[in-house]
Amino acid sequence: MAVKYFEKVWHNGEFIPWADATIHVASHVVSYASCLFEGIRCYETPQGPAIFRLKDHVDRLVDSSKIYRMELNYSSEQLQQALVELVRVNEVRHCYLRPVVFRGYGNVGVDPLHNPIEIYLMAWEWGKYLGHEALRDGVDVCVSSWGRIAPNTLPALAKASANYMNSQLIHMEAVINGYTEGIALDASGHISEGSGENIFVVRHGRILTPPLSSSVLPGVTRMSIVTLAQELGYAIVETEIPREMLYIADEVFFVGTAAEVTPIRSVDRIQVGKGKPGPITLELQESLLAIAQGRAEDKHGWLTLCGQTVAVAT
Ligand SMILES: Cc1ncc(COP(=O)(O)O)c(C=O)c1O
Repeated sequence: MAVKYFEKVWHNGEFIPWADATIHVASHVVSYASCLFEGIRCYETPQGPAIFRLKDHVDRLVDSSKIYRMELNYSSEQLQQALVELVRVNEVRHCYLRPVVFRGYGNVGVDPLHNPIEIYLMAWEWGKYLGHEALRDGVDVCVSSWGRIAPNTLPALAKASANYMNSQLIHMEAVINGYTEGIALDASGHISEGSGENIFVVRHGRILTPPLSSSVLPGVTRMSIVTLAQELGYAIVETEIPREMLYIADEVFFVGTAAEVTPIRSVDRIQVGKGKPGPITLELQESLLAIAQGRAEDKHGWLTLCGQTVAVAT
């Protein structure tokens, strides 16, 4: 995937050139994956660039830092403001925003407590994560032989880089076997999530999604889809979901900042429903994208406009 990086990077309160955003290889994060991050989309709208659910993403980063005892020294509001500035100084029209928080150079042993905490905010242009046709036509996926991180191993509520070693195993296995993405089961064998997406299943008009106890990331898109589905009058239930529900579902779809709302047309080569994106999936996809792209009223205040002076949410 060709990526265009934006030149200015925010580091601990200052803007620096992309090329200077480097670290020493002995930094704690390199050996021990002591890093947290976020993935946020800034959409092009008729009112200029607008960040989707900025506060919710930054609040999740703050939560992740609390779980991992990483003192940020910046409030959620300050980081939100810095991300708005990042969009402005780079004169971005639309982009993917990537805050990273990690333990830097210092102690080379596992003990992380005395290494400095570094924060970088960067931006790049990112197209459709699972491919250009994915949103329109759907994707073919498999259930992974790798399970999602189990409770009491790594905390799934934190968006920590270490979790993404598990994601990489899931994703690589899927791609090497000819699928677009893999779905992981949780420690008890119920559906958890994709390597970088939450998942929803539709059966007999009801929409199901795994609960947080199934080792899922508390996705911002997941939250948005729950809200939109309820507004559209659907019954939506957070519940443990057995694997075989994927095979007999009427519709299955992934959601996430990168994947947006991506229909799933087959799982393990078993056709989902009619083998093409279902009506509820497409309705929710359009509801979400219409708000994000400024084509529908933003009644929940999900967009932070970056082209004009803004007060960030507290
Ligand atoms: C493992 C995992 N689950 C779910 C999601 C979806 O979360 P969000 O909607 O906040 O992007 C992501 C995306 O970052 C992810 O990496």
